[in-house]
Amino acid sequence: MPTATRQHYIAGEWVGSRSREALPTIDPSTGQELARLARGDAEDIDRAVAAAQEAFAAGPWPRMAPADRGRLLLRVAELIRAERDDLARLESQDTGKPLHQARTDVDVAARYYEFYGGVADKILGHTIPIAPGILDYTIREPWGAVGQIIPWNYPLQIGSRAIAAALAAGNTVVLKPAEEAALTVLRLGELTQQAGLPPGVLNVVTGYGPEAGAALAAHPGIRHLTFTGSVEVGILVAQAAARNIVPVALELGGKSPNVVFADADMDTALPTVVRSIVQNAGQTCSAGSRLLVEESAADRVLADIARRFAGIRIGRGVDDPDLGPVITGQQRERILGLIQAGRAEGAQVLAGGGVPERADLSGGYFIQPTLLAGVGADARIAQEEIFGPVLTAITFRDADDALKIANSTQYGLVAAVWTADLARAHALAAGLRSGQVFVNTYGAGGGVEMPFGGYGRSGYGREKGLEALNTYTQIKNVAIKYS
Ligand code: NAI
Ligand code: MG
Repeated sequence: MPTATRQHYIAGEWVGSRSREALPTIDPSTGQELARLARGDAEDIDRAVAAAQEAFAAGPWPRMAPADRGRLLLRVAELIRAERDDLARLESQDTGKPLHQARTDVDVAARYYEFYGGVADKILGHTIPIAPGILDYTIREPWGAVGQIIPWNYPLQIGSRAIAAALAAGNTVVLKPAEEAALTVLRLGELTQQAGLPPGVLNVVTGYGPEAGAALAAHPGIRHLTFTGSVEVGILVAQAAARNIVPVALELGGKSPNVVFADADMDTALPTVVRSIVQNAGQTCSAGSRLLVEESAADRVLADIARRFAGIRIGRGVDDPDLGPVITGQQRERILGLIQAGRAEGAQVLAGGGVPERADLSGGYFIQPTLLAGVGADARIAQEEIFGPVLTAITFRDADDALKIANSTQYGLVAAVWTADLARAHALAAGLRSGQVFVNTYGAGGGVEMPFGGYGRSGYGREKGLEALNTYTQIKNVAIKYS
């Protein structure tokens, strides 16, 4: 595909990198170049931050009636919905995800602008009864120019959840998408322009993490940072922010368990367990990457899941299979290395375990859906985020044992409990160290409305739901003595 270099979106204009450098972005289904992105560096970030600061300090955005701000976000949602098919196709090409999953991503992206557009005029404060003759109240104020660094697994969804909430609260944004997949986020820039968002309210600078990303994280003009990605880079971003006394919301992934008891409704549980690790080729922060199964049910559950894995259709994202490629050759090597580490620790490979041998897929970064079993809860494949279509199964004796194993990783993003025993479900929900707990479902078919974020090394701060408005505002207390 012949490709022109995509430009940054800064101050309402499309501009190249000062350095004139570009970087290639690859279609993971074929390994072919899909487009070239401007390779932003500290200078480009500087321009974008200046634009966001100017839009905050002097532009209409933080000053307009919140309902008007909300209406503009609703307009963005309409424009996203109007080009659902094109956006989904682009997201599928850029990330490799199956088309039907990309369509869901487009719908969820639109929902973020609807949800936060709808609450822009409902960001309330309190009145606090201190003493007679004093009126004390709080106001939630935006931070100012905020920075957002997002990954490649869900550019549209993760970009929109960060942008929509921050903008609804009256902030202005500089967003750095991942170098591996940025095309739909650039398109979002165009749609916000078309919707009539004032210049500088949203700025998008593409580039490599250690260049554009690090420059954004360290920029003294940025008042709040949101980061989604790896633990290692999350630490770097938080360190850079600390030097500027800037708060950070970190969303760093997990090793989320599906805890399946023998009394569970297996017809619902097992397809969901499979979906929660196969979706997006397991490259989901909240992927259900550990299966904890009660000993007495282990044989039938593992046989059932191995059979389901064997039936999964693998293919190029745009051909809409069940499972597409992973994002890069490097990620595939990492995943294969972890599967190998599992074998070395004595894991049995009950399904998959390698690369599909198909000539038509040879250019892309495909991995078979893989089921590993027979390791203890402390094995590497039971502890580390694999970020691929690889499920590690561990057996447990009883509810106490299940809870201990579920809580045995350094992560704590999502957990699900599958059981017919409601008392047991409640006890586990109380004991799980996890930002979200599901019972007899995984994801509950939603996400936009529910606060989302981690315990432990999964991060801190919350996105999504009304809770995100606390993330994207700071509190001012005003006390007025009138008598
Ligand atoms: P990464 O953390 O390097 O990349 C995420 C974002 O951070 C990208 O936009 C990248 O350009 C940026 N970045 C990289 N280095 C930076 C730096 N020094 N300063 C500022 N920004 C920087 O993640 P990567 O390398 O793509 O994936 C590695 C692993 O991270 C995955 O295997 C997975 O375990 C985890 N991950 C988790 C995600 C989640 O949804 N929580 C998303 C992506 C990756
Ligand atoms: Mg990295």
